Amino acid sequence: MANTQLANSTILIAGGGSGMGLALAKRCLDAHAQVVIAGRNDEKLARACEELKRPTQLKAITADISQEDQVAGLFAEIGRLDHIVSTAADITGAYELLPSLDLKAVQRVVESKLYGPLLLAKHGAPRLSKAGSIAFVSGIAAHRPAARGSAVAAVNAALEGLVRALAVELAPIRVNAVSPGWVDTPIWTFVAGGTKDATLSAMAKRLPVGRVGQPDDIADAIGFLLGNTFTTGTILHVEGGHRLV
Ligand SMILES: NC(=O)c1ccc[n+]([C@@H]2O[C@H](COP(=O)([O-])OP(=O)(O)OC[C@H]3O[C@@H](n4cnc5c(N)ncnc54)[C@H](OP(=O)(O)O)[C@@H]3O)[C@@H](O)[C@H]2O)c1
Repeated sequence: MANTQLANSTILIAGGGSGMGLALAKRCLDAHAQVVIAGRNDEKLARACEELKRPTQLKAITADISQEDQVAGLFAEIGRLDHIVSTAADITGAYELLPSLDLKAVQRVVESKLYGPLLLAKHGAPRLSKAGSIAFVSGIAAHRPAARGSAVAAVNAALEGLVRALAVELAPIRVNAVSPGWVDTPIWTFVAGGTKDATLSAMAKRLPVGRVGQPDDIADAIGFLLGNTFTTGTILHVEGGHRLV
């Protein structure tokens, strides 16, 4: 369902080339917003633009959100905007038991999910409209940690702390996050490799809702956070009941 409050607004989606960010881009375009998707990989962004098919409403900009000069350049190119979203995460090599955990992989998670959001807020907030908002994506690992997930759990928890602090510092700009449960996106290739389908099916059987999430479940929740002007500093859990089992 299209979110009518987003009509004519300009929305940056870092991570919009795949998964939840791509689903959100589609929703925002359907709601008649102007959308900018950003990520590091040109080809991924080009494929997303081809899939979304809305050349007059959609722009793709290559940028690594962990690099301050690139984030500053991204906002210089966009100009004024209404909402900033980041679904970006680089968890390559980060799902490991401690003996195999490489600090470089941990650093990539920190850079993409903590430095990136901090830099997006630093450089983007001054360009946001008064009714503007920021939304990030944390994750279930912070609330129902599992073995191999310590780095991601820690960074998701830190991001949630950042959201609450920014909601105070940047007010009246609203700052929120969605914390997803397990959602069927390309990120699972890095978590489960060839056992992705079996891992997700096993989780579907455990969850009260009887299925894992789809990217649009999370896009719907982010759309709510962008449009609801009485919500700030909130972590919205969209996880099929995962915290209960
Ligand atoms: N899927 C799940 O089950 C699940 C569960 C809990 C939380 N989450 C969280 O949900 C969010 C969205 O993940 P997803 O499942 O949609 O995964 P995804 O499809 O892999 O999307 C992540 C996107 O982030 C971009 N990215 C990574 N590092 C970046 C950087 N430094 N700068 C700019 N873009 C960057 C990637 O594009 P490039 O490679 O082109 O940069 C990619 O398009 C992530 O924060 C993830 O941790 C996912």
